[in-house]
Amino acid sequence: VLEAEHRYIQKVVGVVALHADALESGTPPDLDLLSRVVEFIREYADRLHHGKEETLLFPALEQGGVPPQGCPLGILKHEHTAGRALVAELAGAVDGLRAGGEVALGPLVKCLQGLVELYPGHIWKEDYLLFPMTGKVLAADAQSELAAEFEKVDQDFGIDRIHGFEAWADASAASAVGG
Ligand SMILES: [Fe+2]
Repeated sequence: VLEAEHRYIQKVVGVVALHADALESGTPPDLDLLSRVVEFIREYADRLHHGKEETLLFPALEQGGVPPQGCPLGILKHEHTAGRALVAELAGAVDGLRAGGEVALGPLVKCLQGLVELYPGHIWKEDYLLFPMTGKVLAADAQSELAAEFEKVDQDFGIDRIHGFEAWADASAASAVGG
């Protein structure tokens, strides 16, 4: 489940990377796109996806004997916090641009590039370190229990909303590459 969500997050990070490049070469910021990016990262990546990790998976692993600090859980939690700070910065820049205020493009581009630098490495650590480790730490029944709890999180978040975010990630990645 979490790996599947990573694929959608990566698509959006790809869109962010292309937009950061475009801004650097003089294209004006696409405020609608940036607002959707903020919403996607806050809701889908952070509330839904990191929510599952921080409220369900990490505590289960800690119970299984994985230390809460250091490698890998402490680092991953720290990266989630860093991601939140970058998105807050991005949201502030987008609000400033919408209000017609003077927002320097340099910091906006830096913030987008910060997200592009943070997420792929973070996702790599989870796909190749955290999830394989989970398979060793948690017994099969604990894993299916976790899967059931994830499903409940999805229901609470709204299945249609999840599909909406995923469809938007697909569509914006396709259109960013296509044009
Ligand atoms: Fe993740």
